[in-house]
Amino acid sequence: MEAFTEFREQSLPLIEKEMENFINEYTSNKRLKEAMLYSIHAGGKRFRPLLVLAAIYAFNKEVTTHDYQVAAALEMIHTYSLIHDDLPAMDDDDLRRGKPTNHKVFGEAHAILAGDGLLTAAFQLVAISQIEANQKVLLIQLLSKAAGTQGMVAGQAGDLQGEQRSLSLNELADVHEKKTGALIEFALLAGGILAQQPKEVVDLLGRFAQHLGLAFQIKDDLLDATSSEAELGKKVGRDEVLNKSTYPGLLGLNGAKEALEEQLSLGNGILESIKQTSPEFQPDLLRELLEQLRLG
Ligand code: IPE
Ligand code: IPE
Ligand code: MG
Ligand code: MG
Ligand code: MG
Repeated sequence: MEAFTEFREQSLPLIEKEMENFINEYTSNKRLKEAMLYSIHAGGKRFRPLLVLAAIYAFNKEVTTHDYQVAAALEMIHTYSLIHDDLPAMDDDDLRRGKPTNHKVFGEAHAILAGDGLLTAAFQLVAISQIEANQKVLLIQLLSKAAGTQGMVAGQAGDLQGEQRSLSLNELADVHEKKTGALIEFALLAGGILAQQPKEVVDLLGRFAQHLGLAFQIKDDLLDATSSEAELGKKVGRDEVLNKSTYPGLLGLNGAKEALEEQLSLGNGILESIKQTSPEFQPDLLRELLEQLRLG
């Protein structure tokens, strides 16, 4: 726990710095820059970039500037996804990360553009980084797959369509794996690749991430039904108002809690498999990030 707190406190400012420097340096339009930095500075848990770095540390590798840049790029894509998710045409939310949503402050057009800017910036940041060329192309390919029509964007489409009809559990798992799981999976794949791990280990990290990603969104659904605005920094009860297909909606609160626990224990099991494949693997930071998804 102490090691995790130290890891987090040491990593966060460096992730922030990479995002902020890039946006400041490469965004010429003042209002657009302000809108992008507003959502970046609003904070958030930074779960995905911490996963990238925790995966690198797990193999006892030194974390370098370009590792922070990949972590920062991922958080920029996540932040863009939240700005667009909150738009009136999507979930129509007015509170995010404890502050008014981007479109409430900057208007819809600038919120759309701030999202577009963050998405594009993420790829530019990875492209100009000092990562070895083959690795860089692979990372860009995986990031585009995770963010785009095979990943988050497809999941968001499925999520909106799930307001019109009740999805089956399999369909809902697929939506959750895409809209939320895909970026989380990228975090682990990228960590493994940046830590120069062989394909079998990177594949196992990806399997770990699939459980983690599904668990993450099941928890998000549960918190929407049970937590408070003060605790989450966003409106609660929105899924019911919007008639979303969710785990608690399909399985009830207890069923959804069991599904969450199941994913966490499957994820823990895969950490053990990685340790067997790669004896140097130190799962503590990754396990800590997984444990944060357990309901208190
Ligand atoms: C919220 O993500 C959106 C989902 C994918 C569930 P987070 O819960 O990671 O939001 P922040 O980054 O901490 O604000
Ligand atoms: C968002 O899922 C997933 C994204 C890709 C942004 P939600 O719509 O459930 O996220 P919140 O609850 O608004 O944070
Ligand atoms: Mg949504
Ligand atoms: Mg939403
Ligand atoms: Mg939600």
